[in-house]
Amino acid sequence: MQIICNHYAEMSLIILTYICIYFNLNNMNIALIGYGKMGRAIEEIATRRGHSVVSRISTANIQDLRPAVLQTADVAIEFTRPEAAPVNIKTCIEAGLPVVSGTTGWNNLKKEVEEFCLEKNGCFLHASNFSIGVNIFFEINKKLASLMNKYEVYDVSIKEIHHTAKIDTPSGTAISLATDIIQRLERKKVWTISPVEPNSRSIYIESERKDPAPGTHMVKYSSEIDDIKIIHTAHSRAGFALGAVLAAEWLSGKKGIFSMSDVLQF
Ligand SMILES: NC(=O)c1ccc[n+]([C@@H]2O[C@H](COP(=O)([O-])OP(=O)(O)OC[C@H]3O[C@@H](n4cnc5c(N)ncnc54)[C@H](OP(=O)(O)O)[C@@H]3O)[C@@H](O)[C@H]2O)c1
Repeated sequence: MQIICNHYAEMSLIILTYICIYFNLNNMNIALIGYGKMGRAIEEIATRRGHSVVSRISTANIQDLRPAVLQTADVAIEFTRPEAAPVNIKTCIEAGLPVVSGTTGWNNLKKEVEEFCLEKNGCFLHASNFSIGVNIFFEINKKLASLMNKYEVYDVSIKEIHHTAKIDTPSGTAISLATDIIQRLERKKVWTISPVEPNSRSIYIESERKDPAPGTHMVKYSSEIDDIKIIHTAHSRAGFALGAVLAAEWLSGKKGIFSMSDVLQF
């Protein structure tokens, strides 16, 4: 009986997906700002979900980053470079487009971009990591940090491993993990990277770059008696791309600043 119900539910979902694609229900026109590894992975997932990519902007055709071109889209998805992201996002907001951005390494300007968005009554969602698995990992990290607040015998550190083409160090995901810990573990006030020596008030983030390397993040609590580790390993870019498309779908019709916690309703 259980098997028949599951089969029936699965079939209904498949039929519903095809109906949505056929009648163009909830179909979005997407402007991809950045058409590198992530831009291409997003196009594949978005197309499979029945959406259309109406512009693909990279450095070669950066002149297309202007209202007349952008306004043919319903939403912009931005995955470029840290130095380009703030201007790209502001240009899309100015053109009236909701923006999903996954570019990492520009945290110092994030507040300014968010204020600009609110001023323009725009819509913006940034995530250092769009993978659903990593967002579950973030929640586990927060819970573990809250539990560890009263167990001072444990020291905490973070390790991240990525491919050598990654520009920013430490990864945006590692910074998010450290920030969430600092908000819950009173004995930790800052995060540090090499060559700054860690101390009892800092969380040390170790970054390793090698090829090939599935994106890996580990949070480790160590005491003299034992270690507790939580680890997330990404097997491909598909998880990030799917999360970014889900976020773009979720933003439809909304105004304000949002995060993946809003999308996933944690
Ligand atoms: N949040 C997440 O879940 C997540 C997941 C993976 C990666 N990321 C981040 O996403 C970003 C992109 O990663 P990627 O792997 O796709 O990098 P990538 O393969 O190097 O692609 C970057 C793209 O951005 C374009 N670009 C550079 N400057 C630009 C500008 N000023 N305006 C418009 N486009 C510009 C590049 O164009 P050209 O090729 O013409 O130079 C290229 O198409 C990085 O910051 C990475 O850390 C985030």
